[in-house]
Amino acid sequence: MTKPVRLIVCVNRRLGTGQRSCVGSGSLGLIQSIEAMIADEGLEVPIVRRECLGRCEQGPTMRIAPAGPFFTEIDEPKLPLIIAQLKAFIEFQDGSGS
Ligand code: FES
Repeated sequence: MTKPVRLIVCVNRRLGTGQRSCVGSGSLGLIQSIEAMIADEGLEVPIVRRECLGRCEQGPTMRIAPAGPFFTEIDEPKLPLIIAQLKAFIEFQDGSGS
């Protein structure tokens, strides 16, 4: 059985350490925006908050799971692309995208 689709978002913070982190790069604000977009699209995709996805210098980072694409250096204009990828991923998993 296929695991349900979810969106993993890095919420690691290293504020004041001189090292980049996704919270320092704005991931918390992006979560609010993409949650609203997911709801507007009628998608049932939970957002899973994780501490570091291993690409800290390229944050904010997100990943579609299970085993979906990675997104780095995300900003507000890139969110529609992630929504489109989510929809395509769900269609593929459902077997309706062929
Ligand atoms: S701090 Fe976000 S990927 Fe490491």
